[in-house]
Amino acid sequence: MFSRRIFRPLLALALIGSAGVFGAQAQAQTANQPATDSMAARVQGCTACHGVHGEGTDNDYFPRLAGKPADYLYNQLQNFREGRRKYPPMNYLVTYLSDDYLHQIATYFSNQRPPYPPPAKSNVSATTLARGQQLVLNGDTAKNIPACAACHGKGLTGMQPAIPGLVGLHSDYISAQVGAWKSGTRHAKAPDCMQQIASRLTDDDVTAVAAWLSTQQAPANPVPAPAGSLKMPLKCGSEPQ
Ligand code: HEC
Ligand code: HEC
Repeated sequence: MFSRRIFRPLLALALIGSAGVFGAQAQAQTANQPATDSMAARVQGCTACHGVHGEGTDNDYFPRLAGKPADYLYNQLQNFREGRRKYPPMNYLVTYLSDDYLHQIATYFSNQRPPYPPPAKSNVSATTLARGQQLVLNGDTAKNIPACAACHGKGLTGMQPAIPGLVGLHSDYISAQVGAWKSGTRHAKAPDCMQQIASRLTDDDVTAVAAWLSTQQAPANPVPAPAGSLKMPLKCGSEPQ
């Protein structure tokens, strides 16, 4: 089930990967257009999985990119290029792209403002949802788990320059990512605060936070909080303070 859903777009990728990302770039250059105008064409190879404006698709494992802080997206593209995150199509697509080009792509998706999907209807129990809400908003002092909102913001829209919003993501995507930190297949720059937090969550906790987060409505103005505006309970290497 997992692998069928996640790999179905691979054929599309094989067809559009080169034509989309690289071909469009060459085309734009021959047409002598400024790089910014051709960005939509350049990222065609990405939109099959991430949506035309980075809004995501209804595939549970393909994340929304739109509106996340540019440096967060940039860090992820570098993580895929350097193997700190593993998903073969993503690793392959960014292998030969320069830092400068990755930064342009990150900025492009960060500036997109497509509407958020309606919040998911949860299929977990009310007790599980309540546990999720508790962890996200207040954490669990006994287990040394800080509130997710302490860094991801009260509105869960993230913080500049590099903390992502958690609204508009599917519950399966969220639990897969937190699970990847727990099992050591996803890494961020040291100190990797998400790895520390994930390792303190039980599998049930992960299900609970993912389920509650996916039922949340994005705020009316879903922009990330300004840099330095939240007092982070742990140091994170990817978020300079
Ligand atoms: C075959 C489908 C597919 C294609 C094509 C694709 N992606 Fe992805 N992308 C994914 C999946 C799935 C993930 C999550 C992978 C994981 O589990 O870590 C992801 C993750 C990402 C992330 C990290 C998002 C986050 O919130 O952490 C970024 C940034 C990204 N992709 C950008 C791109 C760009 C730019 C392109 C085009 C050059 C692209 N992707 C093409 C499927 C795809
Ligand atoms: C100390 C600050 C901090 C706290 C507290 C925190 N996070 Fe994070 N989180 C981060 C940072 C920084 C990143 C970006 C890491 C990277 O660059 O890959 C992140 C990334 C994430 C991502 C990846 C999003 C994506 O699009 O792939 C998820 C999911 C996440 N956090 C969930 C949580 C949950 C759930 C909690 C609470 C249990 C939590 N975080 C608490 C700092 C924090």
